[in-house]
Amino acid sequence: MKVLVIGSGGREHSLGMKISESTRVESLFFAPGNAGTNVLGKNIDIQANDVEGLLKFALDEKIDLTVVGPEDPLCSGIVDIFEEKGLRIFGPDKKCSYFEKSKSYTKEFLMKYDIPTGDYKEFTDSNLAKAELSQWSYPLVIKADGLAAGKGVAICNTISEGEEFISQVMDSKIFGESGDKIIFEEYLEGKETSIIALVSKDTILPLETAKDYKKVYENNKGPNTGGMGSFSPSNEIDKEMMDKIYSRVLNPFMDGIKEEGMNYRGIIFVGIMIVKGDPYVLEFNVRFGDPETQSILARMENDIVDVMDSVIDEKLSETRLSWTDKTAMTVVLASGGYPASYQKGYEISGLDSLNEIKIIHGGTKSDDDKVLTNGGRVLNMVVLGDSIEDCRQKIYGQIDRVKFQDIYFRNDIGL
Ligand code: AMP
Ligand code: GLY
Repeated sequence: MKVLVIGSGGREHSLGMKISESTRVESLFFAPGNAGTNVLGKNIDIQANDVEGLLKFALDEKIDLTVVGPEDPLCSGIVDIFEEKGLRIFGPDKKCSYFEKSKSYTKEFLMKYDIPTGDYKEFTDSNLAKAELSQWSYPLVIKADGLAAGKGVAICNTISEGEEFISQVMDSKIFGESGDKIIFEEYLEGKETSIIALVSKDTILPLETAKDYKKVYENNKGPNTGGMGSFSPSNEIDKEMMDKIYSRVLNPFMDGIKEEGMNYRGIIFVGIMIVKGDPYVLEFNVRFGDPETQSILARMENDIVDVMDSVIDEKLSETRLSWTDKTAMTVVLASGGYPASYQKGYEISGLDSLNEIKIIHGGTKSDDDKVLTNGGRVLNMVVLGDSIEDCRQKIYGQIDRVKFQDIYFRNDIGL
């Protein structure tokens, strides 16, 4: 069969690698892909949010399965548009993608179905929002309602930080119409974790757990990033916590989507804060996490195409997932400066010099026979080991072999 993967990051290269292991797959395309995906399959010069261009390609090429990596095309309704034309596509439809497109929609849903989450209030007028800043306790979390490429959340320590963020989002519109609405949210202090699950019809099937490192600097300092590393399984979710997450979050979520008449088929990513032993939902995403996916898929033993088929065909209840007991770890090699501004176009060397480690490409592009940096999160080193310590030794023992100018990575993934 012919498979198209939409996106160009580490998540998509990792999905592509897993898909390419399926004996059913004859050809694999990536739109637009990166230097790594172009070795695995063929890159097509169509951007991930060019839904019309992607549809034309999928129809012309008679693509049998399209897998959507990032949230933008999902929120634009790519699944509805492809399915209308009879194409098979993995991901939730436009209505279900509202969980990621609108934080206020998610908060309303969480409140309606009694799923634990922080108190909140929404605003569509920046002056009214600023006038209420003095009535909240600090730190205060302020979130742009819509998509903001992971940058739409500020944890404000003072009223003036709040005013500044509201001005940028609502008056200067740094995220465009995603900032037409904002929410204030109670700050929750605890341990952050996430659950990534497959959903189809009445079945929710969590993947193995993974821990993500969101902050750019060691010891979880500095601004949030998309994620600087991960390992699986996560050491924060034991059986007792998983039982609580099922009874307080996942089961009410499934009841809620049924009640709302949603036909959810795809991935739900639940961001969770564990506060004094109890799970609270921070957010929903409607796609795989990056770099959680790199570590999780390294442990998956199923044919992922079969698993995706079972989601599309509403046969997920018949699927059993199978995982290696080994630990997987991912360390992101980033461009110095990320998540703020950074340079692109530096040559990468040393990619063929590693033992046991899989290199998953993120922001890279090929230039003749060279590989150049082309994004903030450039590469992922992924390894399987007997323990976290074993993974750390394998990765950090070889990490200096890969070189590009201004390379930056965290030394404390797994600690
Ligand atoms: P979100 O995109 O809503 O998950 O927010 C991005 C990040 O901000 C999360 O991964 C958390 O680290 C942090 N965050 C979001 N909401 C809260 C909250 N209510 N309390 C504390 N931290 C939060
Ligand atoms: N690593 C977090 C995310 O993909 O949203």
